Amino acid sequence: MIKICCIGAGYVGGPTMAVIAQKMPALTVTIVDLNAERIAAWNSEVLPIYEPGLYEIVKASRGKNLFFSTDVKNTIIEADIIFVAVNTPTKNYGIGLGKAADTRYIESVARIIAEVSTGNKIIVEKSTVPVKTAETLKEILTSNNHGAEFQVLSNPEFLAEGTAIQDLINPDRVLIGGDPTPEGKKAIETLAAIYAHWIPREKILTTNLWSSELSKLVANAFLAQRISSINSISALCEKTGADIDEVANAIGKDTRIGSKFLKASIGFGGSCFQKDILNLIYLCEYYALPEVARYWAKVVEMNNWQKQRFSHQIVRTLFSTVANKRIAVYGFAFKKDTNDTRESAAIDVCRSLIEECAEVVIYDPKVTQFQIMECLAQGIGKNGRVQVESCPYHAALQSHAILVLTEWEQFKALDFNRIYNSMQRPAFVFDGRNTLNITELCSIGFRAFGIGKS
Ligand code: UDX
Ligand code: UDX
Repeated sequence: MIKICCIGAGYVGGPTMAVIAQKMPALTVTIVDLNAERIAAWNSEVLPIYEPGLYEIVKASRGKNLFFSTDVKNTIIEADIIFVAVNTPTKNYGIGLGKAADTRYIESVARIIAEVSTGNKIIVEKSTVPVKTAETLKEILTSNNHGAEFQVLSNPEFLAEGTAIQDLINPDRVLIGGDPTPEGKKAIETLAAIYAHWIPREKILTTNLWSSELSKLVANAFLAQRISSINSISALCEKTGADIDEVANAIGKDTRIGSKFLKASIGFGGSCFQKDILNLIYLCEYYALPEVARYWAKVVEMNNWQKQRFSHQIVRTLFSTVANKRIAVYGFAFKKDTNDTRESAAIDVCRSLIEECAEVVIYDPKVTQFQIMECLAQGIGKNGRVQVESCPYHAALQSHAILVLTEWEQFKALDFNRIYNSMQRPAFVFDGRNTLNITELCSIGFRAFGIGKS
């Protein structure tokens, strides 16, 4: 019987392994993490991450063929296949500061694997890594090993948070990169056979290691580029009276363009897009391709500009001062259906309003008060005032403006008449996600603004 170990019980490792365990009851899947608190949460009734459908899947397999543990070494020793899903944040020090991926966790994992392994193992890179990371892994594994044989595969995860379970059960494709040697091909086939239990063979693509590693970075760069493209046009819509949703709909009907990822917003967030594009930029610079690096840098630049543009619009519209004004924020996560706040546009928007001496009152259906305060810690200076409310109506009480920063479905169902009546006059709404009906809000009495709408 095949035993699987996954190192890293995060947004990628947790859901991915839960689905593998569910689809293959004959396999044993153990997820390990250095963070004991996180493992305890995975073993409790309140999972550390919110993802629709995840709790049910975990509950069905946990204790049967799905286990969460802090015993990294023993789990590695027993495993045939080891998935590496540790974080690879942007480096915040030294060479490549602010761009290159920090691969120290990947490397330390490789050293532990090499140190404790005796039998043969397949090592699978799940984390998004700079192209050529597999080479580093191989070198560390082979120069430290104790008689074990390793095959390194790249199997990047394309799931999006909020739809992770659906994306895992029914992916557009599964990508597996490996060495073209007989042993490499055998390892690829072992992994492909696991996925083939629920994914049609024609959706399982196999490539060499470098194509697989690079494809993940490129897929995220292309997706982020679409958002920056539509966001750049949103600014032009506001100047010209064109409506961004109408433009997106019209261009999206062209099958060559397609309708997905054309939703204008305050800017993309999440743990991957910015990090992966920066990583791509760094790679291009490393390989002496400055023009290519600059091309992709614009995608990130446009995203930062969009966030800043939104904050400036709020201050300008509120008669050029938000000092001491209560401003309600609906949604703090980087998108709906998740409690993840990494790189959320809400962080930048809130910080800039705090700097302008506003009193910011935040409501999010899934993000905890602790988490919100952690994210804003840097922005809260001496006089910064932030409050977290567990009720959207309380958050809006006596406020001058409401900002919608995450597209949660439940925001649409709020009683905006009630909200309007509890606010200061004039009452403003800034919809950073174009989820609310601006015309309806205006008919209540609000002064309402959307992205790319005038
Ligand atoms: C991470 C990366 O951010 C992403 O680039 C990659 O594609 C997949 O892995 P995610 O699962 O969202 O994504 O990260 P995170 O939620 O931070 O989970 C990583 C986990 O690894 C953490 O729980 C951390 O404690 C754990 N970890 C990290 C280890 O167990 N060992 C380490 O050495 C480092
Ligand atoms: C992304 C990729 O979609 C996924 O394939 C990859 O594995 C990891 O990175 P994720 O970051 O979870 O997934 O969320 P995604 O749905 O891509 O959204 C990223 C950001 O873009 C969010 O802030 C979202 O609100 C924003 N977005 C998305 C838009 O502003 N407009 C859109 O049309 C789509």
